Amino acid sequence: MCGIIGYIGDKQAQPILFSCLKRVEYRGYDSCGIAVSGDGIKVYKDAVRVEALVKVAPQLSGTAGIGHTRWATCGEPSQLNAHPHLDCSGNIAVVHNGVINNFQSLKQQLIGEGHQFTSETDTEVIPHLIEKYYDGNLEEAVVATLRVMDGSYAIVVVMAGESKLIAARKESPLIIGIGDRESFIASDVPAILDYTDRVIYLEDGDIGVVSRDNVRISRDGVEIDREEHKILWNVAEAQKGGYDHFMLKEIHEQPRVIRDTLVEYTQTAEPVADLERMRDEGIESMLILACGTSYHAALVGKYIIEELVRIPVRVEIASEFSYYGQTLARTLAIVITQSGETADTLKAIKRLREVGCRVAAITNVVDSSTSRIADQTIYTKAGPEISVAATKSFSAQLMVLYWLAMGYSKADARRLASMLLELRQLPSKVQRVLDSGDMILQCARYLAKFENVFFVGRGINFPVALEGALKLKEISYIHAEGYAAGELKHGPFALLDENTPVIAIVAQDSTYQAMLTNIKEVKARKSPLMVLAGEGDEAIRELADFVITVPRVDALFSPVVNVVALQLLAYYTARERGCPIDFPRNLAKSVTVE
Ligand code: AGP
Repeated sequence: MCGIIGYIGDKQAQPILFSCLKRVEYRGYDSCGIAVSGDGIKVYKDAVRVEALVKVAPQLSGTAGIGHTRWATCGEPSQLNAHPHLDCSGNIAVVHNGVINNFQSLKQQLIGEGHQFTSETDTEVIPHLIEKYYDGNLEEAVVATLRVMDGSYAIVVVMAGESKLIAARKESPLIIGIGDRESFIASDVPAILDYTDRVIYLEDGDIGVVSRDNVRISRDGVEIDREEHKILWNVAEAQKGGYDHFMLKEIHEQPRVIRDTLVEYTQTAEPVADLERMRDEGIESMLILACGTSYHAALVGKYIIEELVRIPVRVEIASEFSYYGQTLARTLAIVITQSGETADTLKAIKRLREVGCRVAAITNVVDSSTSRIADQTIYTKAGPEISVAATKSFSAQLMVLYWLAMGYSKADARRLASMLLELRQLPSKVQRVLDSGDMILQCARYLAKFENVFFVGRGINFPVALEGALKLKEISYIHAEGYAAGELKHGPFALLDENTPVIAIVAQDSTYQAMLTNIKEVKARKSPLMVLAGEGDEAIRELADFVITVPRVDALFSPVVNVVALQLLAYYTARERGCPIDFPRNLAKSVTVE
Protein backbone atom coordinates (compact mmCIF):
# COMPACT_ATOMS: atom_id res chain seq x y z
CA MET A 1 0.00 0.00 0.00
CA CYS A 2 1.66 3.25 0.95
CA GLY A 3 5.16 3.94 2.23
CA ILE A 4 5.58 6.48 5.02
CA ILE A 5 8.64 8.13 6.49
CA GLY A 6 9.55 10.53 9.34
CA TYR A 7 12.84 12.14 10.27
CA ILE A 8 13.93 14.37 13.15
CA GLY A 9 17.54 15.22 13.90
CA ASP A 10 20.35 17.68 13.29
CA LYS A 11 20.55 17.29 9.53
CA GLN A 12 18.38 18.89 6.84
CA ALA A 13 15.36 16.61 6.59
CA GLN A 14 14.54 16.98 2.85
CA PRO A 15 17.38 14.90 1.30
CA ILE A 16 16.96 12.19 3.96
CA LEU A 17 13.20 12.03 3.44
CA PHE A 18 13.67 11.67 -0.32
CA SER A 19 16.32 8.93 -0.06
CA CYS A 20 14.18 6.96 2.40
CA LEU A 21 11.09 7.44 0.21
CA LYS A 22 12.95 5.87 -2.72
CA ARG A 23 13.50 2.81 -0.54
CA VAL A 24 9.80 2.39 0.26
CA GLU A 25 8.52 3.27 -3.20
CA TYR A 26 7.79 -0.39 -3.92
CA ARG A 27 4.92 -0.05 -1.44
CA GLY A 28 3.08 2.41 -3.71
CA TYR A 29 4.20 4.79 -6.41
CA ASP A 30 1.31 6.70 -8.01
CA SER A 31 2.12 9.93 -6.11
CA CYS A 32 4.36 11.18 -3.32
CA GLY A 33 5.17 14.15 -1.13
CA ILE A 34 7.04 15.58 1.84
CA ALA A 35 6.40 18.10 4.60
CA VAL A 36 9.34 19.81 6.31
CA SER A 37 9.11 21.65 9.63
CA GLY A 38 11.42 24.64 9.81
CA ASP A 39 9.94 28.10 9.50
CA GLY A 40 6.41 26.65 9.72
CA ILE A 41 5.37 23.58 7.73
CA LYS A 42 6.25 23.49 4.02
CA VAL A 43 4.66 20.79 1.84
CA TYR A 44 5.68 19.65 -1.65
CA LYS A 45 3.78 16.83 -3.36
CA ASP A 46 2.54 15.63 -6.74
CA ALA A 47 1.23 12.63 -8.70
CA VAL A 48 4.72 11.59 -9.81
CA ARG A 49 7.46 9.12 -8.82
CA VAL A 50 9.92 10.17 -6.09
CA GLU A 51 12.75 10.59 -8.59
CA ALA A 52 10.66 13.12 -10.56
CA LEU A 53 9.64 15.03 -7.43
CA VAL A 54 13.26 15.31 -6.28
CA LYS A 55 14.13 16.97 -9.59
CA VAL A 56 11.56 19.78 -9.23
CA ALA A 57 11.14 20.20 -5.46
CA PRO A 58 12.20 23.59 -4.01
CA GLN A 59 14.65 23.56 -1.11
CA LEU A 60 12.56 23.20 2.06
CA SER A 61 14.76 23.91 5.08
CA GLY A 62 14.17 22.25 8.42
CA THR A 63 15.51 19.33 10.45
CA ALA A 64 12.22 17.51 10.94
CA GLY A 65 9.76 16.20 8.40
CA ILE A 66 7.55 13.45 7.04
CA GLY A 67 7.13 11.82 3.64
CA HIS A 68 4.81 9.46 1.75
CA THR A 69 4.59 7.35 -1.39
CA ARG A 70 1.03 6.46 -2.31
CA TRP A 71 -1.00 3.50 -3.61
CA ALA A 72 -4.37 5.12 -4.12
CA THR A 73 -7.31 3.66 -2.26
CA CYS A 74 -9.57 6.63 -1.57
CA GLY A 75 -9.35 9.32 -4.31
CA GLU A 76 -7.49 8.89 -7.59
CA PRO A 77 -3.76 9.63 -7.90
CA SER A 78 -3.53 13.45 -8.10
CA GLN A 79 -1.56 16.38 -6.64
CA LEU A 80 -4.44 17.23 -4.27
CA ASN A 81 -4.93 13.65 -3.08
CA ALA A 82 -1.20 13.05 -2.57
CA HIS A 83 0.08 13.09 1.01
CA PRO A 84 1.01 14.85 3.32
CA HIS A 85 -2.33 16.44 4.20
CA LEU A 86 -2.68 19.64 6.27
CA ASP A 87 -5.20 21.08 8.73
CA CYS A 88 -6.83 24.48 8.16
CA SER A 89 -3.98 26.38 9.91
CA GLY A 90 -1.37 24.61 7.82
CA ASN A 91 0.59 23.88 11.01
CA ILE A 92 -0.23 20.17 11.27
CA ALA A 93 0.79 17.71 8.54
CA VAL A 94 0.00 13.99 8.41
CA VAL A 95 1.00 10.98 6.31
CA HIS A 96 -1.07 7.79 6.52
CA ASN A 97 -1.04 4.17 5.35
CA GLY A 98 -4.35 2.36 5.76
CA VAL A 99 -8.07 3.00 5.39
CA ILE A 100 -10.41 5.07 7.63
CA ASN A 101 -13.82 3.45 7.27
CA ASN A 102 -15.84 6.24 8.97
CA PHE A 103 -14.12 9.20 7.29
CA GLN A 104 -17.25 10.40 5.46
CA SER A 105 -19.20 11.00 8.69
CA LEU A 106 -16.16 12.55 10.40
CA LYS A 107 -15.63 14.81 7.37
CA GLN A 108 -19.26 15.99 7.33
CA GLN A 109 -19.03 16.76 11.02
CA LEU A 110 -15.79 18.74 10.58
CA ILE A 111 -17.20 20.65 7.59
CA GLY A 112 -20.15 21.49 9.82
CA GLU A 113 -17.66 22.88 12.29
CA GLY A 114 -16.04 25.09 9.63
CA HIS A 115 -13.15 22.93 8.41
CA GLN A 116 -12.31 23.17 4.69
CA PHE A 117 -11.14 20.12 2.77
CA THR A 118 -9.10 20.10 -0.46
CA SER A 119 -8.89 16.37 -1.29
CA GLU A 120 -11.11 13.30 -1.79
CA THR A 121 -9.02 11.24 0.59
CA ASP A 122 -10.02 9.59 3.86
CA THR A 123 -6.65 10.64 5.34
CA GLU A 124 -7.37 14.37 5.27
CA VAL A 125 -9.76 14.06 8.24
CA ILE A 126 -6.78 13.22 10.50
CA PRO A 127 -4.98 16.64 10.54
CA HIS A 128 -8.37 18.38 10.88
CA LEU A 129 -9.34 16.17 13.86
CA ILE A 130 -5.95 16.81 15.50
CA GLU A 131 -6.51 20.55 14.96
CA LYS A 132 -9.98 20.19 16.54
CA TYR A 133 -8.64 18.41 19.64
CA TYR A 134 -5.37 20.35 19.96
CA ASP A 135 -5.16 22.17 23.27
CA GLY A 136 -1.42 22.67 23.60
CA ASN A 137 -0.52 18.96 23.78
CA LEU A 138 0.04 17.33 20.40
CA GLU A 139 0.21 13.76 21.75
CA GLU A 140 -3.14 14.11 23.52
CA ALA A 141 -4.72 15.60 20.39
CA VAL A 142 -3.51 12.58 18.37
CA VAL A 143 -4.83 10.15 21.00
CA ALA A 144 -8.25 11.88 20.92
CA THR A 145 -8.23 11.71 17.11
CA LEU A 146 -7.43 8.00 16.99
CA ARG A 147 -10.23 7.35 19.48
CA VAL A 148 -12.89 8.52 16.98
CA MET A 149 -11.33 6.87 13.90
CA ASP A 150 -12.44 3.40 12.73
CA GLY A 151 -10.10 1.59 10.38
CA SER A 152 -6.47 0.69 9.87
CA TYR A 153 -3.65 3.15 10.08
CA ALA A 154 0.01 3.84 10.37
CA ILE A 155 0.44 7.61 10.71
CA VAL A 156 3.17 10.14 11.32
CA VAL A 157 2.32 13.68 12.47
CA VAL A 158 4.54 16.79 12.39
CA MET A 159 3.50 20.15 13.79
CA ALA A 160 5.09 23.56 13.38
CA GLY A 161 7.10 24.55 16.44
CA GLU A 162 7.08 21.04 17.94
CA SER A 163 10.46 19.28 18.34
CA LYS A 164 8.88 15.85 18.04
CA LEU A 165 6.99 13.64 15.65
CA ILE A 166 4.03 11.48 16.68
CA ALA A 167 3.70 7.95 15.24
CA ALA A 168 0.82 5.50 15.72
CA ARG A 169 -0.18 2.12 14.25
CA LYS A 170 -3.17 -0.13 14.02
CA GLU A 171 -3.09 -2.98 11.48
CA SER A 172 -0.45 -1.27 9.33
CA PRO A 173 3.29 -1.79 9.86
CA LEU A 174 5.41 0.96 11.45
CA ILE A 175 8.94 0.99 12.88
CA ILE A 176 11.12 3.55 14.64
CA GLY A 177 14.83 3.82 13.78
CA ILE A 178 17.33 4.94 16.41
CA GLY A 179 20.27 7.00 15.16
CA ASP A 180 22.98 9.15 16.69
CA ARG A 181 21.25 12.51 17.49
CA GLU A 182 18.52 11.59 14.99
CA SER A 183 15.45 9.36 14.84
CA PHE A 184 13.51 7.83 11.96
CA ILE A 185 9.98 6.47 11.48
CA ALA A 186 9.21 4.18 8.55
CA SER A 187 6.79 1.60 7.12
CA ASP A 188 9.57 -0.99 7.03
CA VAL A 189 13.22 -1.69 7.53
CA PRO A 190 14.77 -1.24 4.03
CA ALA A 191 13.69 2.43 4.15
CA ILE A 192 16.17 3.43 6.85
CA LEU A 193 18.94 0.82 6.50
CA ASP A 194 21.22 3.48 4.98
CA TYR A 195 21.08 5.39 8.28
CA THR A 196 20.69 2.87 11.12
CA ASP A 197 20.31 -0.84 11.91
CA ARG A 198 18.69 -0.19 15.31
CA VAL A 199 14.89 -0.44 15.14
CA ILE A 200 11.86 -0.69 17.37
CA TYR A 201 8.73 -2.39 16.00
CA LEU A 202 5.53 -0.62 17.05
CA GLU A 203 2.62 -2.89 17.94
CA ASP A 204 -1.06 -2.25 17.18
CA GLY A 205 -2.28 0.46 19.56
CA ASP A 206 1.18 1.91 20.27
CA ILE A 207 1.79 5.66 20.15
CA GLY A 208 5.39 6.78 19.64
CA VAL A 209 6.59 10.27 20.60
CA VAL A 210 9.82 10.60 18.66
CA SER A 211 12.34 13.39 19.12
CA ARG A 212 15.99 13.76 18.08
CA ASP A 213 17.45 12.07 21.16
CA ASN A 214 14.50 10.23 22.61
CA VAL A 215 11.71 7.81 21.81
CA ARG A 216 8.80 7.39 24.22
CA ILE A 217 6.15 4.76 23.55
CA SER A 218 2.79 4.59 25.28
CA ARG A 219 -0.26 2.40 25.07
CA ASP A 220 -3.69 3.35 26.44
CA GLY A 221 -2.00 6.32 28.11
CA VAL A 222 0.61 4.17 29.90
CA GLU A 223 4.29 4.45 29.01
CA ILE A 224 5.76 1.08 27.93
CA ASP A 225 9.08 -0.34 26.79
CA ARG A 226 9.54 -1.90 23.36
CA GLU A 227 12.58 -4.00 22.63
CA GLU A 228 15.20 -2.54 20.28
CA HIS A 229 16.29 -4.92 17.50
CA LYS A 230 19.53 -4.93 15.50
CA ILE A 231 18.79 -5.55 11.79
CA LEU A 232 20.95 -8.32 10.28
CA TRP A 233 20.24 -7.40 6.69
CA ASN A 234 22.87 -5.10 5.20
CA VAL A 235 22.25 -2.11 2.94
CA ALA A 236 23.65 -3.88 -0.11
CA GLU A 237 20.91 -6.49 0.13
CA ALA A 238 18.38 -3.70 -0.29
CA GLN A 239 20.20 -2.28 -3.31
CA LYS A 240 20.38 -3.39 -6.97
CA GLY A 241 23.95 -4.60 -6.79
CA GLY A 242 24.71 -3.60 -10.39
CA TYR A 243 21.62 -5.24 -11.89
CA ASP A 244 19.24 -3.13 -14.02
CA HIS A 245 16.30 -4.10 -11.85
CA PHE A 246 15.68 -5.48 -8.36
CA MET A 247 13.64 -8.26 -10.01
CA LEU A 248 16.63 -9.50 -12.07
CA LYS A 249 18.91 -9.26 -9.04
CA GLU A 250 16.44 -11.21 -6.91
CA ILE A 251 15.97 -13.87 -9.62
CA HIS A 252 19.75 -14.32 -9.65
CA GLU A 253 19.89 -14.59 -5.86
CA GLN A 254 17.85 -17.80 -5.89
CA PRO A 255 20.72 -20.34 -5.80
CA ARG A 256 21.96 -18.63 -2.60
CA VAL A 257 18.44 -18.27 -1.18
CA ILE A 258 17.70 -21.96 -1.79
CA ARG A 259 21.02 -22.93 -0.20
CA ASP A 260 20.54 -20.64 2.83
CA THR A 261 16.98 -21.82 3.49
CA LEU A 262 18.01 -25.47 3.12
CA VAL A 263 21.06 -25.00 5.35
CA GLU A 264 18.89 -23.27 7.93
CA TYR A 265 16.42 -26.12 8.11
CA THR A 266 18.05 -29.35 7.03
CA GLN A 267 20.97 -28.75 9.47
CA THR A 268 18.63 -28.37 12.42
CA ALA A 269 17.37 -31.91 13.05
CA GLU A 270 14.60 -31.03 15.51
CA PRO A 271 11.23 -30.52 13.79
CA VAL A 272 9.04 -27.50 14.54
CA ALA A 273 7.80 -28.25 18.08
CA ASP A 274 4.26 -27.38 17.31
CA LEU A 275 4.07 -29.67 14.31
CA GLU A 276 5.65 -32.49 16.34
CA ARG A 277 2.96 -32.04 18.98
CA MET A 278 0.33 -31.80 16.29
CA ARG A 279 1.46 -35.10 14.83
CA ASP A 280 1.08 -36.53 18.33
CA GLU A 281 -2.32 -34.83 18.36
CA GLY A 282 -3.16 -36.93 15.31
CA ILE A 283 -3.31 -34.18 12.74
CA GLU A 284 -5.35 -35.58 9.88
CA SER A 285 -5.25 -32.78 7.35
CA MET A 286 -3.64 -29.48 6.51
CA LEU A 287 -5.11 -26.18 5.40
CA ILE A 288 -2.84 -23.65 3.70
CA LEU A 289 -3.98 -20.04 3.17
CA ALA A 290 -2.23 -17.34 1.14
CA CYS A 291 -2.54 -14.74 -1.64
CA GLY A 292 -0.95 -14.20 -5.04
CA THR A 293 2.43 -15.84 -5.53
CA SER A 294 2.38 -17.24 -2.00
CA TYR A 295 -0.91 -18.95 -2.88
CA HIS A 296 0.81 -20.59 -5.87
CA ALA A 297 3.60 -21.79 -3.56
CA ALA A 298 0.90 -23.22 -1.28
CA LEU A 299 -0.60 -25.11 -4.24
CA VAL A 300 2.80 -26.65 -5.02
CA GLY A 301 3.06 -27.43 -1.28
CA LYS A 302 -0.20 -29.39 -1.52
CA TYR A 303 1.33 -31.79 -4.10
CA ILE A 304 4.54 -32.17 -2.07
CA ILE A 305 2.82 -32.80 1.28
CA GLU A 306 0.13 -35.10 -0.11
CA GLU A 307 2.84 -37.07 -1.94
CA LEU A 308 5.15 -37.41 1.07
CA VAL A 309 2.97 -37.12 4.19
CA ARG A 310 -0.11 -38.79 2.71
CA ILE A 311 -2.63 -36.49 4.43
CA PRO A 312 -5.18 -34.32 2.56
CA VAL A 313 -4.13 -30.70 2.06
CA ARG A 314 -6.65 -27.95 1.33
CA VAL A 315 -5.33 -24.73 -0.17
CA GLU A 316 -7.53 -21.64 -0.11
CA ILE A 317 -7.24 -18.03 -1.18
CA ALA A 318 -6.96 -16.10 2.09
CA SER A 319 -9.34 -13.33 1.05
CA GLU A 320 -12.07 -15.91 0.40
CA PHE A 321 -11.39 -17.95 3.51
CA SER A 322 -11.79 -14.85 5.70
CA TYR A 323 -15.50 -14.79 4.98
CA TYR A 324 -16.57 -18.35 4.33
CA GLY A 325 -13.76 -20.53 5.57
CA GLN A 326 -14.51 -23.55 7.72
CA THR A 327 -11.92 -25.92 9.17
CA LEU A 328 -12.10 -29.56 10.05
CA ALA A 329 -11.08 -30.80 13.47
CA ARG A 330 -7.46 -31.95 13.78
CA THR A 331 -6.40 -29.66 10.93
CA LEU A 332 -3.04 -27.94 10.91
CA ALA A 333 -3.39 -24.44 9.47
CA ILE A 334 -0.44 -22.83 7.71
CA VAL A 335 -0.40 -19.31 6.26
CA ILE A 336 2.22 -18.28 3.71
CA THR A 337 3.10 -14.62 3.19
CA GLN A 338 6.35 -13.05 2.00
CA SER A 339 5.75 -9.65 3.56
CA GLY A 340 3.86 -10.85 6.62
CA GLU A 341 1.69 -7.75 6.23
CA THR A 342 -0.93 -8.79 3.66
CA ALA A 343 -4.27 -7.70 5.11
CA ASP A 344 -6.21 -10.57 3.49
CA THR A 345 -3.90 -13.12 5.12
CA LEU A 346 -3.95 -11.37 8.49
CA LYS A 347 -7.74 -11.39 8.39
CA ALA A 348 -7.73 -15.10 7.52
CA ILE A 349 -5.57 -15.79 10.58
CA LYS A 350 -8.17 -14.02 12.72
CA ARG A 351 -10.86 -16.24 11.16
CA LEU A 352 -8.78 -19.34 11.91
CA ARG A 353 -8.53 -18.16 15.47
CA GLU A 354 -12.29 -17.68 15.67
CA VAL A 355 -12.75 -21.33 14.71
CA GLY A 356 -10.12 -22.41 17.27
CA CYS A 357 -7.36 -23.35 14.82
CA ARG A 358 -3.69 -23.09 15.66
CA VAL A 359 -1.67 -21.29 13.00
CA ALA A 360 1.86 -21.82 11.73
CA ALA A 361 3.19 -19.06 9.48
CA ILE A 362 5.81 -19.19 6.73
CA THR A 363 7.05 -15.64 6.18
CA ASN A 364 10.12 -13.75 5.03
CA VAL A 365 9.98 -10.67 7.25
CA VAL A 366 11.17 -10.94 10.85
CA ASP A 367 8.76 -9.46 13.36
CA SER A 368 6.10 -8.84 10.74
CA SER A 369 2.45 -8.60 11.88
CA THR A 370 1.87 -12.21 10.80
CA SER A 371 4.84 -13.53 12.79
CA ARG A 372 3.52 -11.72 15.81
CA ILE A 373 0.05 -13.27 15.74
CA ALA A 374 0.88 -16.78 14.50
CA ASP A 375 1.44 -19.57 17.03
CA GLN A 376 4.59 -20.60 15.25
CA THR A 377 6.66 -18.87 12.57
CA ILE A 378 9.05 -20.41 10.08
CA TYR A 379 11.18 -17.78 8.37
CA THR A 380 12.26 -18.14 4.77
CA LYS A 381 15.81 -16.93 4.22
CA ALA A 382 15.24 -14.89 1.07
CA GLY A 383 16.52 -11.55 2.49
CA PRO A 384 14.71 -8.30 1.61
CA GLU A 385 12.57 -8.67 -1.56
CA ILE A 386 12.16 -5.22 -3.09
CA SER A 387 10.74 -5.89 -6.56
CA VAL A 388 6.92 -5.96 -6.49
CA ALA A 389 6.97 -9.19 -8.48
CA ALA A 390 7.81 -11.93 -5.98
CA THR A 391 10.51 -14.33 -7.21
CA LYS A 392 13.12 -15.51 -4.69
CA SER A 393 10.53 -15.59 -1.89
CA PHE A 394 8.59 -18.20 -3.92
CA SER A 395 11.64 -20.48 -4.11
CA ALA A 396 12.38 -20.00 -0.43
CA GLN A 397 8.76 -20.86 0.43
CA LEU A 398 9.04 -24.06 -1.62
CA MET A 399 12.21 -25.03 0.27
CA VAL A 400 10.39 -24.68 3.59
CA LEU A 401 7.46 -26.76 2.26
CA TYR A 402 9.86 -29.51 1.05
CA TRP A 403 11.52 -29.49 4.45
CA LEU A 404 8.18 -29.66 6.30
CA ALA A 405 6.94 -32.50 4.12
CA MET A 406 10.18 -34.47 4.42
CA GLY A 407 10.09 -33.91 8.19
CA TYR A 408 6.78 -35.80 8.40
CA SER A 409 7.17 -37.96 5.38
CA LYS A 410 6.00 -41.53 5.33
CA ALA A 411 8.56 -42.20 2.60
CA ASP A 412 11.33 -44.67 3.40
CA ALA A 413 14.83 -43.60 4.39
CA ARG A 414 16.27 -44.38 0.92
CA ARG A 415 13.71 -42.13 -0.79
CA LEU A 416 14.36 -39.36 1.75
CA ALA A 417 18.12 -39.66 1.32
CA SER A 418 17.83 -39.38 -2.48
CA MET A 419 15.49 -36.43 -2.05
CA LEU A 420 17.94 -34.68 0.28
CA LEU A 421 20.68 -35.25 -2.29
CA GLU A 422 18.45 -33.82 -5.05
CA LEU A 423 17.57 -30.82 -2.87
CA ARG A 424 21.25 -30.08 -2.32
CA GLN A 425 21.83 -30.11 -6.08
CA LEU A 426 19.04 -27.62 -6.72
CA PRO A 427 21.13 -24.45 -6.29
CA SER A 428 23.53 -25.51 -9.08
CA LYS A 429 20.65 -26.64 -11.32
CA VAL A 430 18.91 -23.30 -10.82
CA GLN A 431 22.22 -21.61 -11.65
CA ARG A 432 22.22 -23.49 -14.96
CA VAL A 433 18.76 -22.12 -15.76
CA LEU A 434 20.07 -18.62 -14.97
CA ASP A 435 23.05 -19.24 -17.24
CA SER A 436 20.71 -20.16 -20.13
CA GLY A 437 19.22 -16.65 -20.17
CA ASP A 438 19.99 -16.10 -23.87
CA MET A 439 17.66 -18.88 -25.00
CA ILE A 440 14.93 -17.45 -22.80
CA LEU A 441 15.61 -13.93 -24.10
CA GLN A 442 14.97 -15.14 -27.67
CA CYS A 443 11.60 -16.53 -26.59
CA ALA A 444 10.83 -13.25 -24.80
CA ARG A 445 11.57 -11.21 -27.91
CA TYR A 446 8.97 -13.31 -29.74
CA LEU A 447 6.44 -13.24 -26.90
CA ALA A 448 6.66 -9.46 -26.42
CA LYS A 449 4.51 -8.76 -29.47
CA PHE A 450 1.46 -10.68 -28.22
CA GLU A 451 -1.38 -9.43 -25.95
CA ASN A 452 -2.86 -12.76 -24.84
CA VAL A 453 -0.98 -15.86 -23.66
CA PHE A 454 -1.85 -19.15 -21.97
CA PHE A 455 0.40 -21.08 -19.60
CA VAL A 456 -0.44 -24.75 -19.09
CA GLY A 457 0.87 -27.50 -16.88
CA ARG A 458 -0.29 -30.63 -15.12
CA GLY A 459 0.05 -31.97 -11.59
CA ILE A 460 2.69 -30.20 -9.53
CA ASN A 461 3.41 -27.90 -12.49
CA PHE A 462 -0.17 -26.64 -12.79
CA PRO A 463 0.54 -24.08 -10.03
CA VAL A 464 3.78 -23.22 -11.85
CA ALA A 465 1.67 -22.36 -14.91
CA LEU A 466 -0.44 -20.11 -12.67
CA GLU A 467 2.72 -18.45 -11.33
CA GLY A 468 4.24 -18.03 -14.81
CA ALA A 469 1.04 -16.31 -15.95
CA LEU A 470 0.97 -14.06 -12.86
CA LYS A 471 4.58 -12.95 -13.38
CA LEU A 472 3.98 -12.13 -17.04
CA LYS A 473 0.74 -10.29 -16.25
CA GLU A 474 2.24 -8.29 -13.41
CA ILE A 475 5.26 -6.85 -15.17
CA SER A 476 4.65 -7.00 -18.95
CA TYR A 477 0.92 -6.15 -18.90
CA ILE A 478 0.23 -9.05 -21.31
CA HIS A 479 -3.06 -10.74 -20.44
CA ALA A 480 -1.88 -14.22 -19.41
CA GLU A 481 -3.84 -17.10 -17.95
CA GLY A 482 -2.54 -20.19 -16.21
CA TYR A 483 -4.53 -23.35 -16.80
CA ALA A 484 -4.44 -27.04 -15.97
CA ALA A 485 -3.53 -28.42 -19.39
CA GLY A 486 -6.44 -30.86 -19.34
CA GLU A 487 -8.88 -27.97 -18.90
CA LEU A 488 -8.07 -26.14 -22.15
CA LYS A 489 -10.39 -28.34 -24.20
CA HIS A 490 -13.27 -27.47 -21.87
CA GLY A 491 -13.51 -23.90 -23.13
CA PRO A 492 -10.29 -21.89 -23.56
CA PHE A 493 -9.57 -23.70 -26.83
CA ALA A 494 -12.06 -21.20 -28.29
CA LEU A 495 -9.46 -18.48 -27.76
CA LEU A 496 -6.59 -20.29 -29.41
CA ASP A 497 -5.28 -19.02 -32.75
CA GLU A 498 -2.04 -17.74 -34.28
CA ASN A 499 -2.28 -14.62 -32.06
CA THR A 500 -2.47 -16.50 -28.76
CA PRO A 501 0.73 -18.33 -27.82
CA VAL A 502 0.63 -21.23 -25.39
CA ILE A 503 3.52 -21.92 -23.00
CA ALA A 504 3.46 -25.53 -21.86
CA ILE A 505 5.42 -26.90 -18.89
CA VAL A 506 6.22 -30.51 -19.68
CA ALA A 507 7.72 -32.46 -16.79
CA GLN A 508 9.22 -35.94 -16.97
CA ASP A 509 6.52 -37.41 -14.67
CA SER A 510 3.29 -39.38 -14.87
CA THR A 511 1.65 -36.52 -16.77
CA TYR A 512 4.20 -36.54 -19.64
CA GLN A 513 2.11 -38.43 -22.23
CA ALA A 514 -1.03 -36.46 -21.40
CA MET A 515 0.94 -33.21 -21.84
CA LEU A 516 2.19 -34.39 -25.25
CA THR A 517 -1.42 -34.97 -26.29
CA ASN A 518 -2.44 -31.54 -25.06
CA ILE A 519 0.31 -29.71 -26.90
CA LYS A 520 -0.56 -31.54 -30.11
CA GLU A 521 -4.14 -30.29 -29.61
CA VAL A 522 -2.76 -26.75 -29.18
CA LYS A 523 -0.67 -27.05 -32.34
CA ALA A 524 -3.74 -28.21 -34.22
CA ARG A 525 -5.34 -24.88 -33.35
CA LYS A 526 -2.41 -22.87 -34.84
CA SER A 527 -1.32 -21.33 -31.53
CA PRO A 528 2.42 -20.60 -31.39
CA LEU A 529 3.79 -23.16 -28.93
CA MET A 530 6.57 -22.56 -26.45
CA VAL A 531 7.59 -25.54 -24.27
CA LEU A 532 9.55 -25.78 -21.05
CA ALA A 533 11.06 -29.27 -20.97
CA GLY A 534 13.86 -31.33 -19.49
CA GLU A 535 17.21 -31.47 -21.30
CA GLY A 536 17.47 -33.96 -24.17
CA ASP A 537 13.73 -34.26 -24.81
CA GLU A 538 13.82 -34.63 -28.61
CA ALA A 539 10.11 -35.54 -28.95
CA ILE A 540 9.21 -32.08 -27.71
CA ARG A 541 11.62 -30.39 -30.09
CA GLU A 542 9.67 -31.77 -33.06
CA LEU A 543 6.39 -30.36 -31.76
CA ALA A 544 7.27 -26.95 -30.35
CA ASP A 545 8.08 -23.62 -32.04
CA PHE A 546 10.31 -22.68 -29.12
CA VAL A 547 11.87 -24.94 -26.49
CA ILE A 548 13.27 -23.74 -23.17
CA THR A 549 15.27 -26.60 -21.69
CA VAL A 550 15.83 -26.92 -17.98
CA PRO A 551 18.08 -29.37 -16.11
CA ARG A 552 16.48 -32.73 -15.35
CA VAL A 553 15.36 -33.07 -11.73
CA ASP A 554 13.12 -35.41 -9.71
CA ALA A 555 9.56 -34.49 -10.76
CA LEU A 556 8.76 -33.36 -7.21
CA PHE A 557 11.43 -30.64 -7.52
CA SER A 558 10.66 -29.62 -11.12
CA PRO A 559 8.68 -26.49 -10.01
CA VAL A 560 11.91 -24.97 -8.65
CA VAL A 561 13.81 -25.01 -11.96
CA ASN A 562 10.70 -24.39 -14.09
CA VAL A 563 9.57 -21.29 -12.18
CA VAL A 564 12.98 -19.63 -12.47
CA ALA A 565 12.84 -20.02 -16.27
CA LEU A 566 9.35 -18.48 -16.31
CA GLN A 567 10.45 -15.60 -14.06
CA LEU A 568 13.25 -14.82 -16.53
CA LEU A 569 10.82 -15.14 -19.46
CA ALA A 570 8.48 -12.60 -17.83
CA TYR A 571 11.39 -10.30 -16.98
CA TYR A 572 12.84 -10.26 -20.50
CA THR A 573 9.41 -9.90 -22.11
CA ALA A 574 8.61 -6.90 -19.90
CA ARG A 575 12.00 -5.41 -20.70
CA GLU A 576 11.34 -5.88 -24.43
CA ARG A 577 8.06 -3.99 -23.94
CA GLY A 578 9.78 -1.19 -21.99
CA CYS A 579 7.69 -1.77 -18.84
CA PRO A 580 8.65 -0.33 -15.40
CA ILE A 581 9.65 -3.79 -14.14
CA ASP A 582 10.20 -3.10 -10.44
CA PHE A 583 7.19 -0.83 -10.11
CA PRO A 584 4.38 -2.24 -12.26
CA ARG A 585 1.33 0.03 -12.50
CA ASN A 586 -1.48 -0.30 -10.00
CA LEU A 587 0.43 -2.80 -7.80
CA ALA A 588 2.29 -2.68 -4.51
CA LYS A 589 4.73 -5.00 -2.73
CA SER A 590 2.62 -5.70 0.32
CA VAL A 591 -1.10 -5.22 0.14
CA THR A 592 -2.05 -3.94 3.59
CA VAL A 593 -5.71 -3.21 2.97
CA GLU A 594 -8.52 -5.57 2.00
C1 AGP B 1 3.45 -11.40 -6.51
O1 AGP B 1 4.43 -11.14 -7.43
C2 AGP B 1 2.68 -10.26 -6.06
N1 AGP B 1 3.51 -9.25 -5.56
C3 AGP B 1 1.52 -10.58 -5.15
O2 AGP B 1 0.68 -11.47 -5.80
C4 AGP B 1 1.92 -11.18 -3.80
O3 AGP B 1 2.38 -12.48 -3.96
C5 AGP B 1 0.69 -11.17 -2.89
O4 AGP B 1 0.29 -9.84 -2.71
C6 AGP B 1 0.97 -11.85 -1.55
O5 AGP B 1 1.95 -11.15 -0.87
P1 AGP B 1 2.58 -11.81 0.47
O6 AGP B 1 3.28 -13.06 0.07
O7 AGP B 1 3.53 -10.75 0.96
O8 AGP B 1 1.45 -12.05 1.42
